[in-house]
Amino acid sequence: MKDYLEPFRDGIDLEAINRLRAERDGWFTRRGALPFKAAVERLPKFKSGLVDCSGDAITVGQREELSAAQHDDLLQSMKDLLPWRKGPFQLFGHTIDSEWQSHLKWDRISPHLPDLKGKVIADIGCNNAYYMFRMTAHDPRLVIGFDPMPRFCYAFQLVNRFARFDNLRYELLGAEHLHYFRRLFDVVFCMGVLYHNRNPIQILTGIWESMKPGGELILESQGIPGEGSYALFPEDRYAKMRNVWFFPTTDCLLNWTKKAGFKDVECFSIETTTTEEQRATEYAPWESLSDFLDPDDSSKTVEGYPAPIRICIKAKKQT
Ligand SMILES: C[S@@+](CC[C@H](N)C(=O)[O-])C[C@H]1O[C@@H](n2cnc3c(N)ncnc32)[C@H](O)[C@@H]1O
Repeated sequence: MKDYLEPFRDGIDLEAINRLRAERDGWFTRRGALPFKAAVERLPKFKSGLVDCSGDAITVGQREELSAAQHDDLLQSMKDLLPWRKGPFQLFGHTIDSEWQSHLKWDRISPHLPDLKGKVIADIGCNNAYYMFRMTAHDPRLVIGFDPMPRFCYAFQLVNRFARFDNLRYELLGAEHLHYFRRLFDVVFCMGVLYHNRNPIQILTGIWESMKPGGELILESQGIPGEGSYALFPEDRYAKMRNVWFFPTTDCLLNWTKKAGFKDVECFSIETTTTEEQRATEYAPWESLSDFLDPDDSSKTVEGYPAPIRICIKAKKQT
């Protein structure tokens, strides 16, 4: 089958991308990923008569499109893919109440988005593609999701098995590979990713390289409150997270973005996450925000660091 990247191969390094894809193909069939693969493959495959990505919940499928046995299989598959961190989804009448009420973030960023119609878009750290599905309501030409976790890719496949958007593509690649996609993207979303990376400025530079001149970046990151440009580098865990590196102040995040080459860098939202937005649910039944903060002082993490804020920035690559 023809590679969907073929029409774009002018700037991009398709050989390098294919080498990485070949390496990572094996990740889909590692022992740990096999239950996720089975969760998708046990389900029928067809385009549902109901696909609606314009509301808070990604809604796919009507009850009567599945037999009773297929509903049982679907419920089992939804459970096998736990945890559903991003959502909500509504599949054939069954609600996946995810850990994050992701529509709240979408509501914060959507008034600041450029027109997505006909655009080539990257969603870095796309997880189960909740936001990619939301983008389809704006009729983009192509949205490529980047996330190195097979579990989340299988969750995307489960939903897209019935939604069947062929302008949504999922690559098991990371933020560190964006520079191979030179000058491809009109719009890049990088949300909830930067603090998971040990070299955030290199990531931002790679993103800059992946964008067309005039392209727009939507950058969202956890950070810390405070005046001035500095970043917290936790000694060990931060809010119980292990795989984290730098938590910038807003000024610092603005500064990183400018130093990576972006222009018109502007912060449009600073929020403190609440337990309305992030909480344990049936579909994400483990620890959540309330377990990560000091029970006596929610302005601190359990480790005693300043509690995180979420900073949203938009920026442009100069034409
Ligand atoms: C905190 S979640 C953010 C999800 C979503 N973008 C959002 O804003 O709600 C971080 C995501 O980044 C993914 N991730 C981890 N390492 C990554 C990397 N090197 N490149 C891109 N994504 C990565 C994780 O698998 C996870 O889905």
